[in-house]
Amino acid sequence: MVKYDNSFTDELRQRLSLVDVISRRVPLKKKGQNYWGCCPFHNEKTPSFSVNEDKGFYHCFGCGEHGDIISFTMKSENINFVEAIKELADMAGIKMPEIKQKTQQQIEDEENYIKITDKACKIYQDLLYQDAGKHALEYIKNRGFNDEMIKKYRIGYAPKSNMISSYFNNTKIEKLTATGLVRVGDYGPYDFFRDKLMFPIFNAHNQIVAFSGRSLDGSEPKYINTSDTELFHKRQTIFGFNFARDAIHRANRSIVVEGQIDAIQMQNHGFPETVAPLGTALTEDHIAILCKSNRNIVFCFDGDSAGQKAAVRACTMVLPFLRETSDVKFAFVTGGKDPDEVLKTSGESAMRKIIDNAIPLIDFLWDSVNKSYMVNTPGGRTQAEKYLKDCISKIQDKIFQNEINQEYNNRKFNQWHKWKQQKYTPDIDIPDVDIMTVNLIKSIVHTYPELAEKHMDFLMSLNISFDEDTNKTELSVENSEKFIISFKLQRYIKKLENDKKQLLENALNGENYDKELLNDIDKKLTESNSKLELLLDMK
Ligand code: UTP
Ligand code: MN
Repeated sequence: MVKYDNSFTDELRQRLSLVDVISRRVPLKKKGQNYWGCCPFHNEKTPSFSVNEDKGFYHCFGCGEHGDIISFTMKSENINFVEAIKELADMAGIKMPEIKQKTQQQIEDEENYIKITDKACKIYQDLLYQDAGKHALEYIKNRGFNDEMIKKYRIGYAPKSNMISSYFNNTKIEKLTATGLVRVGDYGPYDFFRDKLMFPIFNAHNQIVAFSGRSLDGSEPKYINTSDTELFHKRQTIFGFNFARDAIHRANRSIVVEGQIDAIQMQNHGFPETVAPLGTALTEDHIAILCKSNRNIVFCFDGDSAGQKAAVRACTMVLPFLRETSDVKFAFVTGGKDPDEVLKTSGESAMRKIIDNAIPLIDFLWDSVNKSYMVNTPGGRTQAEKYLKDCISKIQDKIFQNEINQEYNNRKFNQWHKWKQQKYTPDIDIPDVDIMTVNLIKSIVHTYPELAEKHMDFLMSLNISFDEDTNKTELSVENSEKFIISFKLQRYIKKLENDKKQLLENALNGENYDKELLNDIDKKLTESNSKLELLLDMK
């Protein structure tokens, strides 16, 4: 039998939800841990076809058919393996590589790789409890790790010496460099990790594919990670996922924090469903992996501006994965702390409060748009609208997309166009608007929102609060607009008169005054007065 390189099929399985793919042909309903529907491979009226999203398998208890996302596509469409892969790749929006046969050599290389990383990890683990690693052990214990945690996460210590290069001195150098643990310099091979606290990084099969090493002497960078290798792709690896997978299923959500120590502490203090990206940047691949388990994610970021930015980035990346059943939220840890510090200083309950108070994606997006653009100006609102539109278009399901659109339209109307909180202070003293006029303007705004929109800047300058209920006006839309314009003109005339008065007072006090300015004001006054007359005549 031909053996295929399974990294691409793995990626497909990661990217696509089995439930999504099967749902295209068979209506499914969640019951307990699995989804159920009527088997497409034999005739039945009551569902005995079960789909396990987590394991990626379906099974029919009626006819015994079972398989994964690829065999489902092959069987249900009566196509071959390559055709099925092609179709699924299209669905996932990824390019199909040439399908290569995995050579015996490749298989051997991978086995060697894992043997080396595993042995290296054991060496590091032992060293942590020896003299050489004393300061590292002290450090990690101070950070609240007990022996049990150290063992579970296989935390270790990489010594100052070139321990790995010398231990494996009989192994071919290419095999060592392939793991990223050893590099070759001008003076021969040397260890990449030296004097570091070592966190192994596991793949989905609990094999060690890489390491993250924390500096212990305060030197920068704080963390160094294995560079990408054949078996380790940083952008597609989530720290702690191997430990969290079952919990993510049980809790029916995942929590994403920024640092790996945060992830470990969260996992051990009431939030076993927590993971962290490696390095600071979250990628679409990370989200795809999480969404395979379920589409409920709480992103937990720093409360500072970098955290806000990261949250906005995560928000735009998660939009294509959103379904109407998804629950995606954003939590912020304030006070310059991270989850590790919150747990340490204030305990699990404080952390739970932060997670429980997470802001739903819809609200987070709305809030961040309102913060990023000056929505009290037409230009700012236009930018905000464009941004929102772009975000909404990323949602795949058209009906859901529509719903969200509607929701934002409501918010735009209620919060932008009624200017609840907007205040504008004119720079010149103009008499307050009398109550009759205020009421009339209010009812015009209430009756003709299109006029309100058109004359928004002027209406806002009146400093009227528009959020109370008012009756509709009896005026026609034309007359309402005439009223607004004439009122605007009257205010303008008052402002000009004020300016003129000020100018003449200055002149009386012997100060220099701008004659040209006075002429200009006079000219404008004449113009405005005749415009106003015309307007009132026509009424
Ligand atoms: P932070 O700087 O927030 O560190 O980086 P931290 O997680 O709080 O680390 P501790 O608590 O001081 O040990 C967040 C994450 O970014 C990555 C690491 O994965 C880290 O956990 N990082 C940070 C790097 O990859 N390199 C760095 O130099 C710094
Ligand atoms: Mn920290």
